[in-house]
Amino acid sequence: MSIKRSLTSVPLRLSTLAMLFFLLLGTQVYAANPEVSDSEEAISAGKSVFNANCKTCHQLDRKAVGPALRGLTDRRSIDWAKKFIRNSQALIASGDADAVGIYNEFNQLVMPNHEFLSDDDVMNLLAYIEYGDKADPAAAAATGDGAQVAGGGAGIPSEYLTIILGVLVLVLLLILIVLGLIISILTKYLKNQQLDAEDEEFINQKSDFKKLFRSDAFVIIITTLVIALVAKTAIDELYTVGVQQGYAPKQPIAFSHQLHAGQYEIECQYCHTGVELGKSANIPSANICMNCHAHIQNVGGQEGISPEIAKIYAAVDNNQPIEWVRVHNLPDLSYFNHAQHVAVGGVECQTCHGPIEEMEVVYQHSSLTMGWCIDCHRQTDIKSQGNEYYDKLVQLHSGSKDALKVKDIGGLECAKCHY
Ligand code: HEC
Ligand code: HEC
Ligand code: HEC
Ligand code: HEC
Ligand code: HEC
Ligand code: HEC
Repeated sequence: MSIKRSLTSVPLRLSTLAMLFFLLLGTQVYAANPEVSDSEEAISAGKSVFNANCKTCHQLDRKAVGPALRGLTDRRSIDWAKKFIRNSQALIASGDADAVGIYNEFNQLVMPNHEFLSDDDVMNLLAYIEYGDKADPAAAAATGDGAQVAGGGAGIPSEYLTIILGVLVLVLLLILIVLGLIISILTKYLKNQQLDAEDEEFINQKSDFKKLFRSDAFVIIITTLVIALVAKTAIDELYTVGVQQGYAPKQPIAFSHQLHAGQYEIECQYCHTGVELGKSANIPSANICMNCHAHIQNVGGQEGISPEIAKIYAAVDNNQPIEWVRVHNLPDLSYFNHAQHVAVGGVECQTCHGPIEEMEVVYQHSSLTMGWCIDCHRQTDIKSQGNEYYDKLVQLHSGSKDALKVKDIGGLECAKCHY
C-alpha cells in the first residue's frame, strides 16, 4: 500500500473512533450511587410515589417548579436526600449549605413535607429518579397515539451533551496535532530514503495540512458535529416554546393568595365568579375588593392606608380597571372550559393550579401543554354517579373492567379542544 493511501484513510478511522468514544461517554452519563437499586420493581414502585407526590413540581430531566432530579444521588448523599424530601424546611433551618443554596436558587419556594414516606418509599423514589423513564424512542412510539406532541421531553440533559461535544472537539484537535507531528517526522525521515516517483511527489508537497482539512472525512466529521449541536439546541427550544411553567409575573398590586385564600380562607369562587358557570374563571374587579377593603385599610390594624390598598381606591375612584398580568395563557387554537372541569368533572382547582392558597405570588404550576391535558384525560375517571347524562354510557361500558375515563367520552378527540 502506498504511503499516500494509508495516510489519507486516517481521518476515516478517526471518525469511527470518535463515534465509539461518544457511545462510551453516553453510557456512563448516569453513574449513580450503588446503594440505589436499579431493579424494575423499585423503579416502578418509585414511579407511583413520584407521580402521586412530586410530579406536579418535578421532572427528571428538566427544570419545572423545582429542579430536575436526575443525578440527585451524585450531588447529594442519600441521607441528605431523605431529610430534604421529608422535611426540607427543617434541613434549611439547620443551615445546611446545599439545602439553603437550592432554596435560594428557587426563590425560596417552600417544598411540601413528605414525612409520611417510609424509608422504602424514599429508596424506591431514588431508584426511579436515577433510572426511571429514560428516553426510549421505541417505548415512546408505542404509547404515543401521536398525541404527545408537547409531552414531557426527557432525553440526555443538555449540560452533559455540551460537555461531551466539547471534550470530543478537544480530543479531535489533539489527535490532529499529533498526526501533524508524526507526518513532519516521517517526511523528514523519508527524504533521506530511496523512493519511487509517486511517493517522492507526495512527500514533497507543501500542503499536507490543507489537504487534511479539505479531505472528505474531515469535512464529514465537522459537519456532523455542527449539525448535531444545532439540532440539539433546536429540539430543546421546541420543547419549551410557549411553555411557561413556573411563570410568576409581578402584579400591579401585591395581592397575596396566601393571605386571602390561605389565612383568611376566602372561597376561590368569591372572587373567581365564573369558575363553575362558564369557560372563564374571571379575575375579580376592584369592586369585589372593595366589599372588604372599604373597611380594611391595612394589615394588622396599623394606622393609615397601606400603599397597596390605596391602589385599589385609586382604581375605583378613576374608574380604571386594575391591570393584572395574566399568568395562565393557552394559545387561541385551543379551547378550555372551567365549568366543564370544576362543576361537571369535579376537578379541584389545586390539581391544575397547584397550592394557590400558599402562594404569595401566583405562578403557573402546570405545563399547560397538550400532553398535560391528554395525560389527565387518559387517567381520570368520570364522576358518573348522580349524573343522568352518563347512565347510558356507563351501562354500555360496563362490559369493560376499567372505570369510564375521560378518554372514553371523547376527551382525546382533536375537535373537542381545537376550534
Ligand atoms: C409544590 C412543589 C413541589 C413538590 C410537590 C415537590 N417538590 Fe421537591 N422541590 C421543590 C422546589 C421549589 C425545590 C427547590 C428547593 C426549595 O425551594 O426548597 C425542590 C427541591 C427538591 C430537591 C432538592 C434537589 C437538589 O438538587 O438539591 C429534592 C431532592 C426534591 N425536591 C425531591 C422531591 C420529591 C422526592 C418530591 C415528592 C415526594 C418533591 N420533591 C415534591 C418543589 C416541590
Ligand atoms: C380575594 C379574591 C381572591 C380569592 C379569594 C382568590 N383569588 Fe385567585 N386571583 C385573584 C386576583 C386579584 C388575581 C389576579 C392577580 C394575581 O395573579 O395574583 C388572581 C389570580 C389567580 C390565578 C391566576 C390567573 C391568571 O392570570 O392566570 C389563579 C389560577 C387563581 N387566582 C386561582 C385561585 C384559587 C384556586 C383560589 C382559591 C384557593 C383563589 N384564586 C382565590 C383574587 C382572588
Ligand atoms: C372577603 C374580604 C376581602 C376581599 C374581597 C379582598 N380582601 Fe384583601 N384583605 C382582606 C383581609 C382580611 C386582609 C388582611 C387584613 C389584616 O391582616 O389585618 C387583606 C389584605 C390585603 C392586602 C395587604 C395590605 C397590606 O398592607 O399589605 C392587599 C394588598 C389586599 N388585601 C388586596 C386585595 C385586592 C386587590 C382585592 C381584590 C382583588 C382584595 N384584597 C379583596 C380581605 C379581603
Ligand atoms: C383541569 C384544569 C383546571 C382546573 C381544575 C382549574 N383550572 Fe383554572 N385554568 C386552567 C387553564 C388551562 C387555564 C388557562 C385558560 C386559558 O388560557 O384559556 C386556567 C385559567 C384560570 C384563571 C385565569 C383567568 C381565566 O379564566 O382564564 C383563573 C383565575 C383560574 N384558572 C382559576 C381557577 C379556579 C379558582 C379553579 C377552581 C375553582 C380552577 N381555575 C380550576 C386549568 C384549570
Ligand atoms: C386534572 C385532570 C384534567 C386536566 C389536566 C384537563 N382535563 Fe379536561 N377533563 C377532565 C375531566 C375529569 C373531564 C370530564 C368532565 C365530565 O365529566 O364531563 C374533562 C373534560 C374535558 C372536555 C370535554 C370532553 C368531552 O368529551 O365532553 C374537554 C374539551 C377538555 N376536558 C379539555 C381540556 C383541555 C383543553 C385541557 C388542557 C388545557 C384539559 N382538558 C385538561 C380532566 C382534566
Ligand atoms: C384535551 C385537549 C386536547 C386534545 C384532545 C387535542 N389537543 Fe392539540 N392542543 C391542546 C392544547 C391545550 C394545545 C396548546 C399546547 C401549548 O400551548 O403548548 C394544543 C396544541 C396543539 C397543536 C399546536 C402545537 C403545539 O404543541 O403547540 C397542534 C398541531 C395540535 N394541538 C394538534 C392536535 C391534534 C391533531 C389532535 C387530535 C389527535 C389534538 N391536538 C388533540 C389540547 C388538545
